[in-house]
Amino acid sequence: MSDRLYIFDTTLRDGEQVPGCQLNTVEKIQVAKQLEKLGVDVIEAGFPISSPGDFNSVIEISKAVTWPTICALTRAVEKDIDCAAEALQFAKHKRIHTGIGTSDSHIKYKFNSTREEIIERAVAAVKYAKRYVEDVEFYAEDAGRTDNEYLARVVEAVIKAGATVVNIPDTTGYCLPREYGEKIKYLMEHVDGVHNAILSTHCHNDLGMATACTLEGVLNGARQVEVTINGIGERAGNTSEEEIAMILKCHHDLGIETNINTRRIAATSRMISSLMNMPVQPNKAIVGRNAFAHSSGIHQDGVLKNVETYEIIDPKDIGIDDNSIILTARSGHAALKHRLEVLGIELEGEKLDKIYEEFLRLADKKKEVTDDDILMLAGADRAAS
Ligand code: KIV
Ligand code: ZN
Repeated sequence: MSDRLYIFDTTLRDGEQVPGCQLNTVEKIQVAKQLEKLGVDVIEAGFPISSPGDFNSVIEISKAVTWPTICALTRAVEKDIDCAAEALQFAKHKRIHTGIGTSDSHIKYKFNSTREEIIERAVAAVKYAKRYVEDVEFYAEDAGRTDNEYLARVVEAVIKAGATVVNIPDTTGYCLPREYGEKIKYLMEHVDGVHNAILSTHCHNDLGMATACTLEGVLNGARQVEVTINGIGERAGNTSEEEIAMILKCHHDLGIETNINTRRIAATSRMISSLMNMPVQPNKAIVGRNAFAHSSGIHQDGVLKNVETYEIIDPKDIGIDDNSIILTARSGHAALKHRLEVLGIELEGEKLDKIYEEFLRLADKKKEVTDDDILMLAGADRAAS
């Protein structure tokens, strides 16, 4: 089995569904370009049938991004698939992500249907999507609460119909990590033709176990993970992309590789937090403000003697540069531009000049201008433009 793990970033779809986190098309393009630099393999750009804004964003992101696959979500409904195919027309690499609920409660209450009919609808949707694109991903919504035997029948049927990736979502964040890992193992062992497709994890964090479940999925054979920056997403969020990337980097003995350039993690995290107005909790793993702050005397003493005593990650590996230039009233344009870039904000020309003027006014009043000050200046500028 290949040890390359594909990173499917759903910040702009599952992440953006959070109330208050909506971005406009220009902001989504900015995020998509940053995700491309970060090295994600797939960008889920939206759910085109859901709104004209989502449709338009998928079109514009498809034009703006070169090498990641652009993915659009649909229900297992022909008009959704037609709409997704149209929105993806300019993507260099495109994928349609279609699916249906497979747990008994979804079948009964959402679809008033039967297990057999759900398999027929799943197969029909995959075949219909294949008329437009080669790369079709199928999601079995609420797979976390779907019994394994039936789930295996669904997965086998959609792979036979041409699905290239099959997503096993723990939609409600219910599974225990061991249970989720066993689900993936069961599918790997019982689905005929499973090696003709990639199994994907998609975990929610309702019980705080999304990262653990995702990791168990990978250790049992999943080769794609669906994740978001800062773990944003509906309710308690989705699996956090930076946690998975850094777990695999720290535990390189697992032999599982991603294409993520981890040095871009901090900037990407800040960009998402500032554009979506969603602060990162200070003690959040990897990207929280306190993630590398040692405050107890014993820890400070140890770290000063040798960082390895209490630090498992070099902050530089995620793009936090301790030796970064300190910004003061004497700093020039170039220093400010560099700091903005480190924070995930790219500005040129007049916009940079304007922020620089505001920066000088602030620097005159303060000894040192912090990252938070700069983010505030950049945010104020965005709101005014
Ligand atoms: O959580 C979920 O089940 C989803 C699907 C629509 C993929 O987000
Ligand atoms: Zn989801």
